[in-house]
Amino acid sequence: MKKLSVAIFASGTGSNAINLIQSFKDHEGASISFVLSNKEDAPVVSSARALGASVKVISNEQANDGEFLTQLVTDSKIDLIILAGYLRKIPVELIEKYSERILNVHPSLLPKHGGKNMYGDHVHRAVFEAGDRQSGITFHWVNKHFDEGRILAQFSTKLENVSHPDEIKAKIQAMEKEFFPVIVQAIINGTLK
Ligand code: GRF
Repeated sequence: MKKLSVAIFASGTGSNAINLIQSFKDHEGASISFVLSNKEDAPVVSSARALGASVKVISNEQANDGEFLTQLVTDSKIDLIILAGYLRKIPVELIEKYSERILNVHPSLLPKHGGKNMYGDHVHRAVFEAGDRQSGITFHWVNKHFDEGRILAQFSTKLENVSHPDEIKAKIQAMEKEFFPVIVQAIINGTLK
């Protein structure tokens, strides 16, 4: 079986990116070719380098340049792109070239609390303010509209006696840590498409 070449795009803390790097180290079915970030000072950059991962840092202008980004990814013969807290909109050229090959995790049960500017703590605060009795995470392919690509999987959790959005954040991040490698493994072995 061909070994899948994976690129992880991340802009921030990188807990998901680091978890995936560790989960797929010496994996027979896939290799993390590089981590790409648009922020040199993002913690994910130093954390990924510390794990021996190849890191590419690009500017926001380059992140918006569809031709540049598509060329960078295709030159590296990437099969699957994983967005792990990547905060730039993916250019249309790359989405078209990698249709249903760009995976994103969103920290709510889409379509609830999705869309432009709905990322990270904004989502947890929206869930909290809505008084939702449950929340969860959504794994979906990326298309041209924020958080509207085909959903691959969702995992939910009950919210009881929540007194602050950070409590939701902690539950959600624990779910991401548990399920992100599981979903990527399912894509690698073809049980999720
Ligand atoms: C995650 O909570 C994920 O749901 C969202 O961005 C956040 C990234 O966190 N896409 P981290 O940088 O992986 O810690």
